[in-house]
Amino acid sequence: MTKKIAVLAGDGIGTEIMTEALKILDVLNVDMDLGLTFENGLIGGAAYDVHKTPFPQETIDLVKAADAVLLGAVGGKKWESLDIALRPEKGLLGLRSELELFSNLRPALLYPQLAAASTLKPEVISGLDLMIVRELTGGIYFGEPRGIKTLENGERQGFNTLVYTESEIRRIGHSAFKIAQKRNKRLCSVDKANVLECTELWREVMEEVAKEYPDVELSHLYVDNASMQLVRAPKQFDVMVTTNMFGDILSDTAAMLTGSLGMLPSASLDINGKGMYEPIHGSAPDIAGLGIANPLATILSVALMLRYTFNNEMAASRIETAVNDALDQGIRTADIYSEGMTKVSTSEMGNAVVAALK
Ligand code: IPM
Ligand code: MG
Repeated sequence: MTKKIAVLAGDGIGTEIMTEALKILDVLNVDMDLGLTFENGLIGGAAYDVHKTPFPQETIDLVKAADAVLLGAVGGKKWESLDIALRPEKGLLGLRSELELFSNLRPALLYPQLAAASTLKPEVISGLDLMIVRELTGGIYFGEPRGIKTLENGERQGFNTLVYTESEIRRIGHSAFKIAQKRNKRLCSVDKANVLECTELWREVMEEVAKEYPDVELSHLYVDNASMQLVRAPKQFDVMVTTNMFGDILSDTAAMLTGSLGMLPSASLDINGKGMYEPIHGSAPDIAGLGIANPLATILSVALMLRYTFNNEMAASRIETAVNDALDQGIRTADIYSEGMTKVSTSEMGNAVVAALK
């Protein structure tokens, strides 16, 4: 049976890193007879330039018909002055919400070879392996009303709404508890329940869901404390579950613990495990086209796709092992380079992973 992957390279370094990810998939597809087919689509600024919208109907049709979506990155200076509804980021948000990809998994794993690339002391981060489960289709990102209006006194006022229904909290709770069950059975829920009623409810519902997972130990932290703990003693965490916006912020911090944003993959899943896979870094317009971007986060996102959507653990771990081997050989893109290593381009890194696969 063939399976269709929608490939949305997007903007900035998106095309460069996607080329490398597809190299890996091409090899495995033949080697392991995966039966994967690919179809390209436009999203973000690239889609706006052609269709005057960041998430055109043909891309919507493509992702709906696909078994999984692989995405590069969206955004760039060129589109920053557009109305917010037309900006590249809206394409990504539209995709998440159209496919109901409410559960966003952002694993932060420290490769021991990269301990020197982190700004934190090796003893603080060595052995780091944490998973952030971010709610992805609700909260302040999508809440209504929203906008910028002019008040009677002529002053402008910007407003957004933080909303979560019980069922939205419950389903991301179940997602996170199930992941914790497969890991070290500790789940930390992050909220701001001391100030925001919406997250007071979040905490209550997490407590209710916890009753169904007696083997998982649930704890709670306020987001300010959580961000501090992440840089102070990140190894205390196994799985963290949090709202859309807090997850956005905390996952950048968690990524940096591992040395570079360029290393972290992510999976965004719907209730049936259909998913969209993307690196957590952005389109990095400052280095786009230079051939120096790190393709590993995208390559590792392919591994997550094989694991979560196609249930092919063997193919997933082959990629992860190959990445590990390339790092063992001292191969580094600029963002993870340290003295004595071999600095390589985006495509050389892709080639090194391909060679390690074989
Ligand atoms: C992320 C990004 C996106 C987000 C942007 C590009 C809309 O920062 O995936 O973390 O805020 O969710
Ligand atoms: Mg982000």
